[in-house]
Amino acid sequence: MSSSTIDFDIKEVAQSKINEVDFNHIEFGKVYSDHMFAAEYEDGEWKNFRIEPYGDLSISPANATLHYAQSVFEGLKAYKDDQGAIRIFRPDANAKRMVISAERMCIPPIPEDLFMEALTELLKLDAAWIPTRPDTSLYIRPVIFANDPYVGIRPSMTYKFLIFTGPVGAYYSEPVNVKIEKKYTRAASGGVGFAKTAGNYAASLYPAMEALKEGYHQLIWTDGKEHEYIEEAGTMNLLFYINDTLITAPAGDSILNGITKDSVLTLARDWGMKVEERRLTVTELIAALEAGTVQEAFGAGTAATISKIKMIGNEGKQYQLPTETPLADKLFSELDDIKMGRKPDPHGWVFTL
Ligand code: COI
Repeated sequence: MSSSTIDFDIKEVAQSKINEVDFNHIEFGKVYSDHMFAAEYEDGEWKNFRIEPYGDLSISPANATLHYAQSVFEGLKAYKDDQGAIRIFRPDANAKRMVISAERMCIPPIPEDLFMEALTELLKLDAAWIPTRPDTSLYIRPVIFANDPYVGIRPSMTYKFLIFTGPVGAYYSEPVNVKIEKKYTRAASGGVGFAKTAGNYAASLYPAMEALKEGYHQLIWTDGKEHEYIEEAGTMNLLFYINDTLITAPAGDSILNGITKDSVLTLARDWGMKVEERRLTVTELIAALEAGTVQEAFGAGTAATISKIKMIGNEGKQYQLPTETPLADKLFSELDDIKMGRKPDPHGWVFTL
């Protein structure tokens, strides 16, 4: 039992796996910590709160999520500062966004206080798994999925909520080439693009694989109707620094409302920069690329952090971006300093344990 206000059963591993991990070479998403938080939704309520050894699940072949993707997830990160304190970046924002995603997918939301307590207890138990080398962190993956063994179409009546974690390095190890996608659509107006839900990612795989054959790491998704408005990159939101103005797509129902993007915009505004959250057309972006007025372009996401874009492709033409990226560099180091406690945290983003 723990000091939390919600009763958790805690079953610890008999033997930690931590000594099997090479913390000097951590890739993204391959290694998982010893424990996970788990709960079930049954009979109209969340129950069975527990922390248990991380491990495989047993599910029915008829599990509703396997067939119909009624699931939502989150991604956030924790760090350890020089004093050994655990620092979680904006977990309250992830808890809120998970409620928004869940409601859109007919999933009973996880109360924000339960999310926070579950996360806190789990991180305290697996604190040794938080890596400390530069550009590493503990990635935290909360997920809720439908659990009914039923292949009819309706919202499930049972769900599972899990939080598991794992030490990670950079998601993109180098600046990326991105292709403006005008044939395929990630998310339509009125759809679920703003929700962090499995199907959005599944739908992006085929177009991304096609682009990979042409040497692109990622796509710049455009709107589903005219394929003329820049949206996001699927793994991250997109920001363009044009004529000393930081421009990004406005929040909407076809774009994930990124927490890293919000942090970037907040810092840029704090610094007195000109920031525009507005629809940017492909025509305007290409004109700026041709005129050489795009100073920088980068993605922002939890996994991706600040990922620089080195080339943008459009209709077979490729535009190289400047290799000097002072704004992306400054944003990256400012966020890193706040996360690690080396600089003040004026917006109260970091939760310290
Ligand atoms: C995240 O940034 O946390 C995501 O879920 C995106 C995915 C590319 C890992």
